[in-house]
Amino acid sequence: MGWGTILSEKVLALLFEKPSLRHRASFEVAMRQLGGHCIYLSPSEVGLGQRESVADVARVLSGYTDCIAARTFSQQTLELFASYSRVPVINSLTDLEHPCQALADLFTIYEKKGELEGLTLAFIGDGNNVANSLLLAAALTGMNFRIASPADYKINEQILNTARQYAAESGTLIFCTEEPRQAVTDADIVYTDVWTSMGQEAEAEKRQQAFTGFQVNGELLSLAREDAIFMHDLPAHRGEEVTDDVIDGERSVVFEQSENKMHMLKALLAEMIGGLEIPLPDYR
Ligand code: NVA
Repeated sequence: MGWGTILSEKVLALLFEKPSLRHRASFEVAMRQLGGHCIYLSPSEVGLGQRESVADVARVLSGYTDCIAARTFSQQTLELFASYSRVPVINSLTDLEHPCQALADLFTIYEKKGELEGLTLAFIGDGNNVANSLLLAAALTGMNFRIASPADYKINEQILNTARQYAAESGTLIFCTEEPRQAVTDADIVYTDVWTSMGQEAEAEKRQQAFTGFQVNGELLSLAREDAIFMHDLPAHRGEEVTDDVIDGERSVVFEQSENKMHMLKALLAEMIGGLEIPLPDYR
């Protein structure tokens, strides 16, 4: 059987409470290129937890589909949904985690650097969902992780503890600071994300003030290794967390990252619902 039919007759539902460009497009293209189909359900159509209970939506949708990719505000909603679903549920972003992004990021780093173990990634900015998943991914794969964030926007303590447990086995060094220059110095990868995530719009002004000094600009990036790459999960708020010269510069791999999301999702879906066995390194 060729790749083009590995998911034939399989249906993936996309259930999104928040907007999405990359995830929606890459899931749809991934399913189509592997012979399957996608149905997209917008927030207003479903009214998850409002028009109908989360548990009922999960039970209904899992009767029609082979897999559900859900993007919810809270992690608890996603976990409740998954506990009632009879088909696999993929976390397509919650306020706590963004695991598919982390997978695409690891793949991009591996493509660029030929390895993960022993590299140093510096995350500058909010200790948010993207940072949480990247930290866990780094700690599983032996990549060192430094994060610089303002005092009130530090990475989630529980995620940090889990990552420390993984790191004890993988050898990953984890370092948290409030000083971006300390984090970036000699890093192999410099990563940032928006200061205001979806759902936090009311805090935008307060956050802009709190994150002053945390912008990734040419001067900050010059402290990283000469061959360092710049990453951002997008969408970017240009002029806030990153300057145009950095995101459009020659070290930036942001559009490779977004394309790799689609390739990564293809592998994930083929493995989860297409019967493909992917031999994985024994990270855990
Ligand atoms: N931290 C961002 C990621 C967007 C893909 C957010 O949650 O809005």
